[in-house]
Amino acid sequence: MEQPRRIATFSELIDHQPVHAEVNGLDLVITRFDDKLSVLYGRCLHRGALMSDGHVSGDDLICGLHGWDYRLDSSVSAYNNSEVLHKFSAKIEDDGVWVDEAEINSYLEKHPNPLRGISTWGSMPTPTRKIPSPLPAISRSSPKTD
Ligand code: FES
Repeated sequence: MEQPRRIATFSELIDHQPVHAEVNGLDLVITRFDDKLSVLYGRCLHRGALMSDGHVSGDDLICGLHGWDYRLDSSVSAYNNSEVLHKFSAKIEDDGVWVDEAEINSYLEKHPNPLRGISTWGSMPTPTRKIPSPLPAISRSSPKTD
């Protein structure tokens, strides 16, 4: 790592519970799973919700708003393999969780954080994944009055 930066204490992480971290304005989600670690971009690709508000189900990190999934190990969605949260290199050392600040800064240069300082997700682009819609509307034609 070019610029190691400690973002959490590994022994304090609860197994399979996502936790938020921020480095230079970039949201990250840290998840301990057994003795392994996942550090991913912390905003959902659907509408930008914080992934740390989600939960783990099996091998997947699930967004808390509408259920988009990302594998903890690969960061790829099992539902749609084209949906991938960026995975950052991370290591556990001296009970710390470390990321490379240089890698994060490089990521920020290529992907300026559109949600920096924003706490809502309503202005994000329209989702590309089809979300099950409610039942079709029932026609409201006038009743026959013969
Ligand atoms: S914002 Fe994550 S699934 Fe909708």
